Amino acid sequence: MLGERGTFSRIGFIVAAAGSAIGLGNIWKFPYITYANQGGSFVLIYLAAVVLIGAPIMIAEILIGRRTKKSPVGAFLELGKEVVGGRLWSAVGVLGVAAGFIILSYYSVVAGWTVYYFGRCLYWSATGFTAEIASGLGDAFGTFLANGALQVAFHAFFMLTTMVVISLGVQKGIERVTKTLMPVLFSLLALLCVVSVWSPGFQQAIGYLFHVGPIGRDGVLEAVGQAFFSLSLGMGAIITYGSYISRRVSIPRDAAFICALDTLIAMMASVVMFSIIFSVPEAERASQFTKSAVILFTTLPRMFYELPGGVLFAPLFYLLVAFAALTSTISLLEVVVSYFIDQRGWNRVRATFGVGSLVFLAGVGSALSFGASAGLSGWAPLGERNAGVFGVLDYLAANWLLPMGGLFIALFCGWFLSNRLTREELSQSGGYAGLHAAWKFLVRVVCPLAIAWIIAAVAGGKAFN
Ligand code: TRP
Repeated sequence: MLGERGTFSRIGFIVAAAGSAIGLGNIWKFPYITYANQGGSFVLIYLAAVVLIGAPIMIAEILIGRRTKKSPVGAFLELGKEVVGGRLWSAVGVLGVAAGFIILSYYSVVAGWTVYYFGRCLYWSATGFTAEIASGLGDAFGTFLANGALQVAFHAFFMLTTMVVISLGVQKGIERVTKTLMPVLFSLLALLCVVSVWSPGFQQAIGYLFHVGPIGRDGVLEAVGQAFFSLSLGMGAIITYGSYISRRVSIPRDAAFICALDTLIAMMASVVMFSIIFSVPEAERASQFTKSAVILFTTLPRMFYELPGGVLFAPLFYLLVAFAALTSTISLLEVVVSYFIDQRGWNRVRATFGVGSLVFLAGVGSALSFGASAGLSGWAPLGERNAGVFGVLDYLAANWLLPMGGLFIALFCGWFLSNRLTREELSQSGGYAGLHAAWKFLVRVVCPLAIAWIIAAVAGGKAFN
């Protein structure tokens, strides 16, 4: 049984985990939340959240996965046996599998948009991007969103691509694909960053990102929630990947590297986006960016085509975002699939296509909730702010499931696993003296308190997505 499980190479693990972390959360969500929170201070608090909450929980997840060589449910079953609570701990794993299923179902829909816009840009680049197209971008996006057939088709395409990769297995599928895509993504983004230096808005963009100003409580909450989502924490995705690595890997070093890379990409994406945003004259900007969440699909194409080389960079950019999304959907599907492989004894191909088809079907609800179906779009059990199937699911997953999962993972490592066990895992391949104690303090005290505070705030009615 053990021998049949896949294994990552050392680099393979880092690249796959970074690929999971780097996704729409970095390129789409981070810049728009940062913009909505007026930059500077938000970025600082986000960085603090990554270091004080994200990194320790990332270490905790890798540790749990590698120790047990099992996906979340099996991992908690095994480790839970020896501590108070016993089998009950497997509920944390079940919560994770459910969260993976839910997040993937709607994430794949947005991922499909990036593929669609890649195609559109190819077309515009070939046939010419006219002023007429430029002025109609917002309406075109709305029309696309409300087109049920297109929404479902691109969601299906994205799910199918994800399934093919997962069906090929850990090394031949996940590792090979992420190793190919991540360097391409990084190079493209670096190229765009360099190009943006010459855009008129570059200086202002940098100033906006790094100035320090006042920040509200809401901004602090959003920063912490974003850290969870962006680092793929709180639902066992990193536990699952951690279960495919060897004893020789240094957990703290790899975790630090993955967190740093994820943050770097979010910052690079922000530099690119803000350079474009600030290249728009101030008077126009206010009216154009009121709905910052849709910048990526409405204003951005026009900005690209105004830039020198836009014919090239516009399609490249959407291709890059699609790649980033794919390496994230891969990790989401792997969590659910590995549960059926490890706990139910299914073979990989059957688990992949069985589970993947169900996720696809579940996602159709989200795909039709952008106007195609009035009932699904208007469904608002949680209030108007999170209307529609997509809005409801994203709200539940990001604001409840991930922080709850993170809380239990931190508590489990901080209070239930023995010091002997955790120290043993952390000190392999050269741990630093004192590192274990510092990490233990973070997962024991700092993370639980911070997360409990978020959950209390969310319960008090504040959504932070
Ligand atoms: N981190 C990814 C992003 O930033 C999304 C993602 C992939 C994710 N796997 C996850 C989020 C697991 C939460 C949990 O886009």
